[in-house]
Amino acid sequence: MECYIISIELFIIPLLAAIWIMLPAYFPNPVAALCGGGTPVDMGRNFFDGKRIFGNGKTYRGLITGIAAGIGIGMLQMWLSGIYGWETLPLHTFTSITLLSAGALLGDLIKSFFKRRFGKERGAKWPVADQYDLVAGAFLLLLVLDPAWLFANVTIPVFILILVLTPILHRAVNIIGYHIKVKEVPW
Ligand code: CTP
Ligand code: MG
Repeated sequence: MECYIISIELFIIPLLAAIWIMLPAYFPNPVAALCGGGTPVDMGRNFFDGKRIFGNGKTYRGLITGIAAGIGIGMLQMWLSGIYGWETLPLHTFTSITLLSAGALLGDLIKSFFKRRFGKERGAKWPVADQYDLVAGAFLLLLVLDPAWLFANVTIPVFILILVLTPILHRAVNIIGYHIKVKEVPW
């Protein structure tokens, strides 16, 4: 019994907190893949090295729909916390959901900038960077613009769980995306 209670305290609650915190950062990428397209963010222009700045995989429509989806899911979470008065789950704010959602796709955009500089084609595999760009982007924005929320909610165990969970979810969602033909490659 005691062991059971400890595992809830030490594992289940931080795991739920990790997912709850990251939902506004997890939604933008798949929604951008689903709804993106059209004018690329770099408008087709090259950087000084003669290679594309970001490439055709980064579009305005992807950015806008993805960030809107992340904010949308975050507002749904805030509404749920409000009506159920949940206390065990972290409380999102309009700032936290906006920074998580915009940070996820900014991280993805900056990753593509460096991917092009290393001569990797659009869609090429780039292990580690492909999985953690959204975590780095989201947490960097929070660190700079709302560190109080970050440190109050992302405790060390929650942070470790986010690092373990993100590549697993990333892989699973991309395999699904590939099979339903939303993504051209399963990563
Ligand atoms: N997408 C978009 N706009 C964004 C991000 C993604 O339109 N800001 C869409 C593109 O259609 C893209 C797809 O989502 O091809 C998958 O995203 P991602 O894997 O990040 O892009 P890649 O095509 O792999 O390009 P890159 O090599 O630059 O990562
Ligand atoms: Mg990719």
